[in-house]
Amino acid sequence: KRLVVLVSGSGTNLQALLDAIAAQGAQAYGARIVAVGADRDGIVGLERARRAGLPTFVCRVKDHASREEWDRALTEATAAYEPDLVVSAGFMKIVGKGFLARFGGRVVNTHPALLPSFPGAHGVRDALAYGAKVTGCTVHFVDDGVDTGPIIAQGVVEVRDEDDESALHERIKEVERTLLVDVVGRLARNGFSIEGRKVVIP
Ligand code: GRF
Repeated sequence: KRLVVLVSGSGTNLQALLDAIAAQGAQAYGARIVAVGADRDGIVGLERARRAGLPTFVCRVKDHASREEWDRALTEATAAYEPDLVVSAGFMKIVGKGFLARFGGRVVNTHPALLPSFPGAHGVRDALAYGAKVTGCTVHFVDDGVDTGPIIAQGVVEVRDEDDESALHERIKEVERTLLVDVVGRLARNGFSIEGRKVVIP
């Protein structure tokens, strides 16, 4: 299976996928990354892709006349690589209707909180501020909402009294990386079906 991974930052989730595929071999893992896309330049995630010899593309909102134009550009750039699955790994933009029309049902996102709690761009900060005793991460399919698609897997992380946002996020990311690698591999090898809010991986 062909994966396109979308990033916006350090790309440690991307790196975890790259390392797993290198260690297991694309055949055994069931997928290989064919390209990495981003919404901005100058991020470590793109350096990781280049270091792995992967093609990259950058679609910046400000380069386009409208959000719809940006979404069209992102869709076309992604489609050029003919992905079987798109993995949003720390991609910090909400994809639009055009992208979902093209790839809907095969876009996987990872979120650093236990959805439906704490959706949006500050899930770690919000859980901490709320005083949650446990939080975690969620791997889910993307639908037309924000972090609302069918849940595939979740991992629980305890919140410690001394945690600040970055300490907690780092601890979440340790669980998140493992969860994402496992889920993407299973989806690629076994296939899947989505029945309402239920994801079935045979
Ligand atoms: C991840 O925790 C992701 O869930 C969140 O931002 C982080 C991205 O980390 N949206 P990285 O870029 O994969 O290191």
